[in-house]
Amino acid sequence: MKKIELVFIVIVLVLGCKNAPKANTYSSTVKKNKTISTEKYRPQHHFTPKTNWMNDPNGLVYYNGNYHLFYQYYPDSTVWGPMHWGHAKSKDLLQWEHRSIALYPDSLGYIFSGSAVIDKQNSAGFGKNTMVAVYTYHDPVAEKAGNDQYQSQGIAYSLDEGETWVKYQNNPVVKNPGIKDFRDPKVFWNKEKAVWQMVLVAKDHVQIYESKNLKVWNKISEFRFEENRELGVWECPDLFKLKVNNEDEEKWVLIVSHGGESAPNGGSGTRYFVGDYDGTTFTTDQKESHWLDYGTDNYAGVTYNDTPTNKRIFIGWMSNWNYATVTPTKSWRSAMTLPRELQLMKSGDNYLVKSKLIDGFENMLSTPNQEHITGTYPHQFKYEYLQSSSISFDATIEREMQVNLFNEKGDELMIGYRKDDGMFYLDRGRAGVLDFSEKYKESSYQTMEIGHRNSMNIHVVLDASSIEVFINEGEYVMTAQIFTNEPLTSFLFDQKKGGAIKNFSLKHIKRKEDAYKKAK
Ligand code: FRU
Repeated sequence: MKKIELVFIVIVLVLGCKNAPKANTYSSTVKKNKTISTEKYRPQHHFTPKTNWMNDPNGLVYYNGNYHLFYQYYPDSTVWGPMHWGHAKSKDLLQWEHRSIALYPDSLGYIFSGSAVIDKQNSAGFGKNTMVAVYTYHDPVAEKAGNDQYQSQGIAYSLDEGETWVKYQNNPVVKNPGIKDFRDPKVFWNKEKAVWQMVLVAKDHVQIYESKNLKVWNKISEFRFEENRELGVWECPDLFKLKVNNEDEEKWVLIVSHGGESAPNGGSGTRYFVGDYDGTTFTTDQKESHWLDYGTDNYAGVTYNDTPTNKRIFIGWMSNWNYATVTPTKSWRSAMTLPRELQLMKSGDNYLVKSKLIDGFENMLSTPNQEHITGTYPHQFKYEYLQSSSISFDATIEREMQVNLFNEKGDELMIGYRKDDGMFYLDRGRAGVLDFSEKYKESSYQTMEIGHRNSMNIHVVLDASSIEVFINEGEYVMTAQIFTNEPLTSFLFDQKKGGAIKNFSLKHIKRKEDAYKKAK
């Protein structure tokens, strides 16, 4: 071997070792291919807990280059239990780094959902730029003793960007006023009034509070909305301002999630109101509330505080309380939705909140190698990227159509649009495993009324056990879990009643850097 070759080999070896992951850098979920999890059903591009149970996103706040995602977490089991706040962070909202558990239950109770803010002016006295979490204490002892006042609000602060936390010694900061369901505080800085404000839910309405220092809170108003239907307990509110697309007008949007059976396709779901907020009271002249997502699996979602671009970024929990605890995953349960930018548009006399996939998602996409596609693209073809079922496709639909996605195991998922009754539908009734839950089975056929349209754009993201459908850049959205036996690889477009599919484009979601790094 020549000397120069030897030098070259040594350099390669040294560099290789330097870049190689240290033994404990990657979680056990990431085995052979370090950039992808091989676990059945685990989405590659959606946030999932490394192990065990997760529900609502909590404490969504951007600070110093990182989007923080805290979440309802039970580290000891794959079903709901004493709640903690898990923690992850991300530079782009798509690749997440797992961090250590942020908040543990204490003598005041479990740590239920809530929010986080950056106290830039040190109003609370914990220090400048402290991260402050505002959450619900759920006291299981009081609950068991039949005392209805078992939920109150507490705060904790972190001086190291969410890594370690100190609970405030005079918790709770908002005591229970005698209402059983009293929870999920979302705090934000009201710029106009230069004061902290908090929306929280109290059984069947929203309450708004105000504070100068995050420690002493005064109630300033309530919001109720009477409807002739039972909507189930109110949960996870959020209140924020949005500019109406292409207009000078600004409106306020109030989001509320509902447990029970009220969502359009059964179980729990999230609705919104568009109205005005004078800094004290929220009002709307809307006759009915609208749903943010018509699929079964987008719940308890809220938006980020302090995003650098002032965009309103939303993340929801991609499950449904009707069956969340029994879905057929093994070592972990549930995922978050892809992050979405909420926008407001006018549609006739109505305001519509759009849920648009964040712009950065485009960077994750690449055109698949044509060799992996067989058949008559785009009408009936097979995409043989079997290691990964993470794909995204876009198309213009004219009049009617149905897309069947299937595989050789006989799993089949259908989405389609009927112009006659203006209905978009998703049918997961033959999409793999169903019998883990009657409620899941009952919600196999899901619909959303989108009106009579000659043409529309449809964007679909499939990632292992999830499908997200965005119509016209998120004017209407459907998010659902699916548990197919194998990835769906074949496409059949059924152009009903003279319908047509145009501009079809299939994209592969790139395997980026490993998102499952271990917390230090
Ligand atoms: C919503 C919710 C919240 C509560 C949390 C408990 O899914 O019920 O209202 O704070 O989950 O985990």
